[in-house]
Amino acid sequence: MREDVSGIFEEAEKMLSYARKEKSTDLMAGKVLAALFYEPSTRTRFSFETAMLRLGGGVVSGSDMVANSSVAKGESLADTGKTVSKYADVIAMRHPEAGAVAELAKGSEVPVINAGDGSADHPTQGLLDVFTIWREFGKIDGLTVGMMGDLKHGRVPHAQYELLSKFSGVKFVFISPDGLEMSDEYEGERISSVKDVIGDLDVLAVTRVQKERFSDGMINSQLPITNAELLKGAKENMIVMHPLPRVDELSTDVDEDPRARYFDQVVNGVAVRMALIKMFTS
Ligand code: NCD
Repeated sequence: MREDVSGIFEEAEKMLSYARKEKSTDLMAGKVLAALFYEPSTRTRFSFETAMLRLGGGVVSGSDMVANSSVAKGESLADTGKTVSKYADVIAMRHPEAGAVAELAKGSEVPVINAGDGSADHPTQGLLDVFTIWREFGKIDGLTVGMMGDLKHGRVPHAQYELLSKFSGVKFVFISPDGLEMSDEYEGERISSVKDVIGDLDVLAVTRVQKERFSDGMINSQLPITNAELLKGAKENMIVMHPLPRVDELSTDVDEDPRARYFDQVVNGVAVRMALIKMFTS
């Protein structure tokens, strides 16, 4: 697992100059990525599409598959997968339900990359986040990672944990208000006041309240806010990450702080997805 991740990171590192628009390549000329999105997305879909286009390949894209695809006619995911795999060489798919990506992959004859399914997983976001940490510190082992936000419904913290826990001695600190806690099977310290731990963290990974995943539509929990004031208590070489979109939990007064990494994550995401597309499609 660690070896797989290192291989992806090495490949992603090579892709960074393309992701930064410094160089161009036609490595994937003649290949097609299908982006099938059954749930809203700006970054992840654009990131996958940009990754394929910067590799010199082409893209077919469904940004609103629920309304504008054969789902509306009752087609099964497996049939959609089989059909789209006749057009494309690789598929990136997002869906509101856990397990839906695996269902479509059953019918597909080409690799299907999970671009986020339900609260369960968002592996490419997890990878790009861990890639961001690895580039920063040159290692993952032994770091103290604070995850702050809606740790119950957010797929990003789950995906980050999944990968980070494969390394040695990573210490997790889960910071969330009542009702939005990380579930018990995830090992880490659970606290509600970020001020108590901010000085111990190497990474502060913030996420928003996933209001679309509340069954009753009610949100009573106020997330702790990451702002310039909070960062006064943090290490000088700590980094602040956020998968975006942000709402109120991350203040714009952090944007100019040299520790802010969330817009670098956007670029790293293109590089990581370029690496994955290359590895799966060549
Ligand atoms: C995340 C997602 O979709 O889960 N966004 C992303 O992929 N950049 C986080 C979120 O929506 O809060």
